[in-house]
Amino acid sequence: MSKQFAVIGNPIEHSRSPELHHAFAEKTGIDLHYSKRLAPLDGFEASVNDFFTQNGVGMNVTVPFKEQAFALCGQLTERAKIAKAVNTLWMENGVLHGDNTDGQGLVDAIKALDWNIKNSQILIIGAGGATRGVIYPLVKAGARKIVIANRTLARAEQLIADLKDAVPEAELSAIGLDALNGQFDIVINATSASLSGDTLTLPENLNFNYAYEMAYGKPSSFLDQAKARGVPTSEGFGMLVGQAIEAFAIWNGVRPNLKDFL
Ligand code: ATR
Repeated sequence: MSKQFAVIGNPIEHSRSPELHHAFAEKTGIDLHYSKRLAPLDGFEASVNDFFTQNGVGMNVTVPFKEQAFALCGQLTERAKIAKAVNTLWMENGVLHGDNTDGQGLVDAIKALDWNIKNSQILIIGAGGATRGVIYPLVKAGARKIVIANRTLARAEQLIADLKDAVPEAELSAIGLDALNGQFDIVINATSASLSGDTLTLPENLNFNYAYEMAYGKPSSFLDQAKARGVPTSEGFGMLVGQAIEAFAIWNGVRPNLKDFL
């Protein structure tokens, strides 16, 4: 029987993880089946237990269960501990293991675009879970200075207070979205504005060389403004592929090449 994998979330119908993992499997010659599992909002733990009891090998976790998955694990990677969220689960010696591959997925997507991260100054807009998950991998990839801009300044300040000890080699700072200005190498939109159809207005005196939108498949006022300035841009499909490759490599011990799937 082929190795069983799944992505669990609510809703789950939109997930592209099965098609990605089946494409990786085909490329690497691994026999697996990857399905979607809709868990009731109050039934995440039962659904995970059910999957692993039935010899499931690995599970990806998506909205709204990443924090619950974090709480459920007996063993966590360093980056999952820092993210306080888990998107990749597997069982080892009867212990549920958790990792968070989202941040490395973003780093790998940016590298595949040939945008330089080493010694860079990065602006991240937004201070929610998406931002929390990417700071440590960006710093490990060489980002030297990261500014977090958020509509609610206090939330950005809190995030920095939480994370600064984990990344002592980088300079982290917070700014209110209304006070935003300056010069950056890369600006990353980690807000949920595009997902909810909201407009995000970038100030005139904000300058940047590259723009990355974490969302994908949605109109993005952020990307529209970056394109109007003639700046190279990307939406978040590469990050999705990157996090999936990272999970695939953990589970199967083989790493597909990101550029083959963009
Ligand atoms: P996620 O886990 O995806 O990061 P989240 O924790 O709900 O989601 O965080 C959403 C982020 O998008 C927050 O930084 C939020 O700003 P606030 O902290 O001020 O709420 C930001 N956000 C959402 N809609 C926005 C908008 N229209 N303009 C600016 N920021 C927005």
